[in-house]
Amino acid sequence: MRLFITGGCGFIGSNFILNQGIKKADALLNYDKLSYSGNINNLSSIENNNIYSFIQGDICDINTLNKAIIDFEPDIIIHFAAESHVDRSIDSPFDFVDTNIVGTANLLYAASSYMKKTAKLMKFIHISTDEVYGSLKKTGFFNENSLIKPNSPYAASKASSDLLVRSWNKTYNFPSIVTHCSNNYGPFQFPEKLIPLMIANCIDNKPLPLYGNGKNIRDWLHVYDHCEAISQIILNGKIGEVYDIGGGTEKSNIEIVTKICKILDELRPRSKKSSYKDLITFVEDRPGHDFRYAISSLKIQNELNWKPAESFETGIYKTVKWYLENESWWRKIQDINYKQERLGLKNI
Ligand code: NAD
Ligand code: DAU
Repeated sequence: MRLFITGGCGFIGSNFILNQGIKKADALLNYDKLSYSGNINNLSSIENNNIYSFIQGDICDINTLNKAIIDFEPDIIIHFAAESHVDRSIDSPFDFVDTNIVGTANLLYAASSYMKKTAKLMKFIHISTDEVYGSLKKTGFFNENSLIKPNSPYAASKASSDLLVRSWNKTYNFPSIVTHCSNNYGPFQFPEKLIPLMIANCIDNKPLPLYGNGKNIRDWLHVYDHCEAISQIILNGKIGEVYDIGGGTEKSNIEIVTKICKILDELRPRSKKSSYKDLITFVEDRPGHDFRYAISSLKIQNELNWKPAESFETGIYKTVKWYLENESWWRKIQDINYKQERLGLKNI
């Protein structure tokens, strides 16, 4: 199997390459622009592996992208590359339009031209998000038939890219599959996202900023389980289908942060016998903040025999430990491009 991956230096892409891709592919090319969230060091353990290669390239640069695909001759493409942070999409929506919409259109165009010439492309897996469905009230679940009702520029740009992928399948018989996954957590997540941000702030004794009343709910899935789901889709996913992937673990943000504080109180007690919980601070809400996400994974469970292996209890414990043991990884990010500042307060 020759795997062409976009965005392999980000959180989910690097976990996929390290835990699935490198073990299963005969050749793997990682095409990544190295934006602020891309980190080449995530893959240092495999940089000399003969089956692995890397091109620093932008999906918005059609010539470089075309050449990379034609030279590599993939049979599977997995498209992770994106601008992925909701708060940044509030500050700079056009970055999301460029990468997530125009970049995906470029990739579809390049991949379908290559397919026409060689007939070698078997599958194109577009990694999207449950955020395209908008927000739920206290009850109910999203599934593959839910309406697309995105609320942030990020979610709207991902929804647009999903629709482009769908149209390529219907119009050009393009071998695409779309996935919608819930919130991931685990190693190598950029520390602007809730879980790593809260861990880093605890360690630095900084306030833990909970948006609004802290009662918004997300459905958490360990990133290794998401990567395993993608592997099942490579093997048995049906062309033209959509698969929703969720953890079945709904937690409010206040529950998540309290849990992180409790684990850190055990693993790295604060001085003066106080708890990290004392750092919790309620701050102005995120504009357009979705109240609740919850995904029904019945289709992928029934059709592809996938279900999450990691419980939230064990997964979050291991994740907090990972950030403690890999402090130099996120300190380097703080030194170069992100210092735990609040983003997304409608500066435009
Ligand atoms: P991330 O921000 O950690 O990584 C994104 C990667 O894409 C980075 O390596 C970056 O350098 C690269 N990239 C950005 N713009 C690019 C461009 N123009 N050309 C080439 N490469 C570019 O994101 P992530 O959390 O790993 O998310 C990966 C994918 O999964 C995204 O498509 C996201 O929408 C989706 N997703 C994420 C989650 C989550 O909880 N993190 C959940 C569901 C779906
Ligand atoms: O649902 C899947 C999505 O999950 C992915 O598509 C996105 O790429 C990913 O970033 C994530 O989006 P969220 O907006 O849910 O994740 P974030 O970590 O930014 O926020 C999680 C929740 O925590 C959300 O309700 C906002 C809240 N939050 C976040 C931050 C950064 C806070 O209360 N305080 C914070 O400082």
